[in-house]
Amino acid sequence: MSLLVLPQAASTQDELKRLLATGNAPPALMAIDQTAGRGRFGRPWSGAPGSSLALSVALPEWQGHQRPWLIGMSAACAVAGVFRAKVRWPNDVHLSGRKLAGILVEMSDGIPVVGIGVNLGIDSVPPELAGRATSLERETGKNMPPEAAAERILARLKGIGLPEKWQELAPVWSVFDETQGKEYLLHDGRKGSALGIGPLGELICSVEGETESVMAAEAWFGPVEPA
Ligand code: BTN
Repeated sequence: MSLLVLPQAASTQDELKRLLATGNAPPALMAIDQTAGRGRFGRPWSGAPGSSLALSVALPEWQGHQRPWLIGMSAACAVAGVFRAKVRWPNDVHLSGRKLAGILVEMSDGIPVVGIGVNLGIDSVPPELAGRATSLERETGKNMPPEAAAERILARLKGIGLPEKWQELAPVWSVFDETQGKEYLLHDGRKGSALGIGPLGELICSVEGETESVMAAEAWFGPVEPA
């Protein structure tokens, strides 16, 4: 998969979507310096230039996929495979219990555009996130150039292929999974404890003593301590 490397972009997601609209987009692009990256739930996503990976991948062959959430889960497995990391539903990648990489799936005229941010160098995690996030270098003592990381992720993603159903991805996911027992904040404000992944790839969790399946929730980190 050919990779376009840009010295700078506001968000690689927006840049790839812009190119898709022109009909002349590369399959993947990354920016050495991403100045206005965004994460899930509209949150900002930052990284240090040259020390973090900001990659976006267009997957036209997955256009109209019946279960789009599997796209982000597949990407999480690809990233976890490269860095010998773990995955937590829906698509967070963790090393030693802290977030190493995040994945954002957006659609551009029905074409999935998968954004992948990975903290590589020791300075890629802002100090205020150091309790929750980590970097490859911090955990392993080894860094990896962003372009090499991108190439390896793209190769892994291709290797995983296109799962039509959760059952096709489940064996891969289970190799990396550390979802069970993690706390989640549901969209209605209740908290749940993860029991596992259901037959559609949804989260099964225990909420106030009852078992529930949810398609959307975010990791619960507890109250944010004042800086
Ligand atoms: C998350 O919230 O965990 C997802 C973070 C996704 C960040 C990546 S960096 C490359 C791509 N461009 C963006 O603006 N966001 C994604």
